[in-house]
Amino acid sequence: RKPLRLAIAGLGTVGAGVIRLLEENRALVEARAGRPITIAAVSARDRTKDRGVDLSGFAWCDDMAEMAKRDDVDVVVELVGGSDGPTLALARDTLAAGKGLVTANKAMIAHHGMELAGTAETNGAGLRFEAAVAGGIPVVKGLREGASANAIDRVYGILNGTCNYILTAMESSGADFGETLADAQRLGFAEADPAFDIDGVDAAHKLAILAALSFGAQIDFESVEIDGIRRVRAADIAQADALGYVVRLIGVADVEQSTAGPRMLQRVRPCLVAKDHPLAPIDGPTNAVVAEGNFSGRLLFQGAGAGDGPTASAVVADLIDLARGDAGAAFSVPTQQLVAMPKADSGAR
Ligand code: NDP
Ligand code: HSE
Repeated sequence: RKPLRLAIAGLGTVGAGVIRLLEENRALVEARAGRPITIAAVSARDRTKDRGVDLSGFAWCDDMAEMAKRDDVDVVVELVGGSDGPTLALARDTLAAGKGLVTANKAMIAHHGMELAGTAETNGAGLRFEAAVAGGIPVVKGLREGASANAIDRVYGILNGTCNYILTAMESSGADFGETLADAQRLGFAEADPAFDIDGVDAAHKLAILAALSFGAQIDFESVEIDGIRRVRAADIAQADALGYVVRLIGVADVEQSTAGPRMLQRVRPCLVAKDHPLAPIDGPTNAVVAEGNFSGRLLFQGAGAGDGPTASAVVADLIDLARGDAGAAFSVPTQQLVAMPKADSGAR
């Protein structure tokens, strides 16, 4: 059986996790993929760093741009991060060369997902980004495939593990914001620049992707209204508690019908969540996504939203799809059928 040959760009938390998973679960992954999945080449900035995984059998690319051009590579796995620059160039070149691209990079998909999906379609290449939204939770596949028979006009949830980790630590132990953020960084949950987490931008990247998947809309990251958790104080959390609420960073996207056609409102902000709401008990780096389908009813997806193992699990699930030849559309429909939805007026809400 012909192996699916990978090039892995980025050997940090997620990249090393993917190599570990492919090694540890090799037999299971191979059985489900229907063929071997092998690693041809890897790349990172520092060749000398010990990453806790054996890289000796893989070619090292000093410049990850080489990966898109290698004849011994079928799929590039982009686990570097950053929405533009060399990462975007690698993604564009990979798909233009007709190779598959699997990425965990929500920033790049939120900003350039439409273009990249279009390039994938033009070149018959598979584009997959399960790990970009909510870590280990198979919510991209769940919405794209599992809920595909439904009209969905609302999707919301806890989309950032770092913020949820900080807020729930402040809630349970009155922990200090800065110390808890440092813990999240040490545990590998936070972005390279943690301002993306605490200012709500990372959650907004994920929300924009979820909205597109749920509503059959074009991604519109620029119209997400964003407020993060920097201003949340321990006293706010204590006061919410006394009133029967917890504080969670929530992303919500709604579609509303107007005479001019559907409009979309996307917001990320700290919210008071009633203690009996299904999102209230979600703690630590856990994420949860709720989608309301017109036939399925309320769907709740919940699980680890960050960290090496869960994120690697999502990346490798995408690789298994590509190995099986399930390239299909990156969104629920081909990009040309995704509707441009203008921003709804948020004034009265
Ligand atoms: P890390 O910072 O741990 O790893 C990034 C890796 O990219 C490092 O190995 C780094 O090299 C490498 N790198 C940076 N610049 C270059 C370059 N120019 N060429 C080649 N390699 C480069 O990040 P994560 O693993 O945490 O995240 C990777 C991606 O996954 C990001 O898009 C992130 O948003 C996403 N993600 C992360 C999750 C998590 O829980 N951590 C969860 C879901 C998605 P070196 O090691 O030598 O510095
Ligand atoms: N920094 C992100 C988070 C990683 O904390 O949720 C997972 O996307």
